Amino acid sequence: MILHPTYDINEAGHLTVAGLDAVELAKEFGTPAFLLDTDAVRAQCRLYRDAFRTYFGESSLPAFAGKALCYKGLYRLIAEEGLLADCVSPGEIFTAKAAGFPMEKVFFHGNNKTDADLRFALESGVGHIVADGEDELCALDRIAGEMGLKPHILLRITPGIDPHTHRKISTGNVDSKFGMAIATGQAQEFVRRALGYPNLTLDGFHCHVGSQIFDTEPFEDACDIMLSFMARVRADTGYEAEILNLGGGFGVRYTEEDPVVDYRDNIRRLGAEIDRMCALHGVKKPVIVMEPGRSVVAAAGCTLYTCGTVKTIPGFRSYVSVDGGMPDNPRYALYQSRYTVLNASRADADADFTCTVAGRCCESGDLIAEGVSLAKPVRGDVIAVLVTGAYNYSMASHYNRIPKPPVVELSGGSARVAVRRETYADLTAFDV
Ligand code: LLP
Repeated sequence: MILHPTYDINEAGHLTVAGLDAVELAKEFGTPAFLLDTDAVRAQCRLYRDAFRTYFGESSLPAFAGKALCYKGLYRLIAEEGLLADCVSPGEIFTAKAAGFPMEKVFFHGNNKTDADLRFALESGVGHIVADGEDELCALDRIAGEMGLKPHILLRITPGIDPHTHRKISTGNVDSKFGMAIATGQAQEFVRRALGYPNLTLDGFHCHVGSQIFDTEPFEDACDIMLSFMARVRADTGYEAEILNLGGGFGVRYTEEDPVVDYRDNIRRLGAEIDRMCALHGVKKPVIVMEPGRSVVAAAGCTLYTCGTVKTIPGFRSYVSVDGGMPDNPRYALYQSRYTVLNASRADADADFTCTVAGRCCESGDLIAEGVSLAKPVRGDVIAVLVTGAYNYSMASHYNRIPKPPVVELSGGSARVAVRRETYADLTAFDV
C-alpha cells in the first residue's frame, strides 16, 4: 500500500490503482487521465454515514460537497450511498438533477446567489437554501412569495475561528465574504430578520471552519460557539434550531508527512463534544449535518500523465515535463499544495531522482510538484500523481486551449469512462 489502500505495486513493478495496472490503464484510456476508485469512495461514504448515525444521532447525515468533484455518475453513487449533497452553484444543482439525485436532499450554498439562481433552486426543489446575507433573505422571500412557496432555509453564521490552515482555503474567520459573524452582532440580527419573513421556514444554522483540517479542535470550538449562539437565540427570540450544519473540512493525507486520519474517531470525539455542549448550554440536540468533500473523494483519485522532456540544468535542478499541468491540477500554482508523485512504470525502482514536475503550459508557474523524488523517468514513462480526487477535475480549466482529461471509474477490478475526454472540437464548440 502507498499512502492509501487504493495504491500498490504489482509484480511488473508498476503502480496499481484499485488493483489495476496504471501503465495498462494509461495505454487504454490515454493520458492525462483522472482515475477514481469508486469502491473506495463508497467505503468512505459508508464510514461517514455510519459514524454520523452512531455518534451524532439517528437523523444526522453527511452531505457530499460537490465542489470537490462533480459529474453525474458521482451524484448517482452519492444517492445510492444515501448521502445528502452540498451544491454551490446552479451548475452543480443542474448536474445533481440530471443524475436523478433526490433534490430534497440538496443544500444550496453561495455567498452571492443571484435572483435567477434562487429561482432555479426553488424550481429544482432543493431541500434547503443556506442564506448567506440579509439582502439574500429579502430576495428569497420575494421570489418564494411569487412562486407560492415557503422554502426551508439555514443561515450561514461565521463563528470566527482560525483553523490554522492555509489562509486561502479558510472561510471561518470574521473577515470573510461568507456568512454573518457572531462577534459583530450581525448574526443575531440575521436570525431576527429571517424569523420575520412570511415566506421563509428557518430550520437552523450553518457554519464552515475551513478545509484540510487534521485536528478536531477547530470543529469542537465551532460546536461550542454555535451551540452557545443557539442558546442565546432561543433566549432572545424563543426560536429553537433543528439543524446544525458544520460544513466540510476533515483533512486528507497527500504525502507521507501528513498524518493518517481516523475519520470515525474524529466523528466520535466531535459527537461527545456536541453532547457535552448541548447539556452545558441547555440546548436540544440538533440534527447534525457536515459537508465533507475532500475526505470523500481525494484519496480515491489519481492522475496519470506521460513523461515527455526530462531536462537537467547543471547546478540547478531537473525538470520532468508531463502532458498535463495547471489546467488539470492548478493546486500547486494556487496553494503550493504538496503531492506524492511516482514513476508508475518503475514504481519498484529506487526513488532517487529529485526533480520538479512541470506541466506543458506556456507559463513557468505551471508546476505540479517541486523537490519530489521518483525513479528516474524516460520519455514515455507513466507518471502518477496520487490523491488528486478532490479539487482537481472540479478546478480544471482550458488554459492554453488544452482539453480536459477523462474521469475513469475503477470498481471491482474493471475500468470505465465516467466523463469522456474532451476533444479539440469541444474546445471550439461555443465559438460563434
Ligand atoms: N462546505 C462548505 C460551505 C465549504 O466552503 C467547503 C469547502 C466544503 C463544505 C467542503 O470542504 P472539504 O470537506 O472538501 O474540505 N479549492 C480548495 C478547497 C476550497 C474549499 C472551499 N470550501 C483546495 O483545492 O484545496
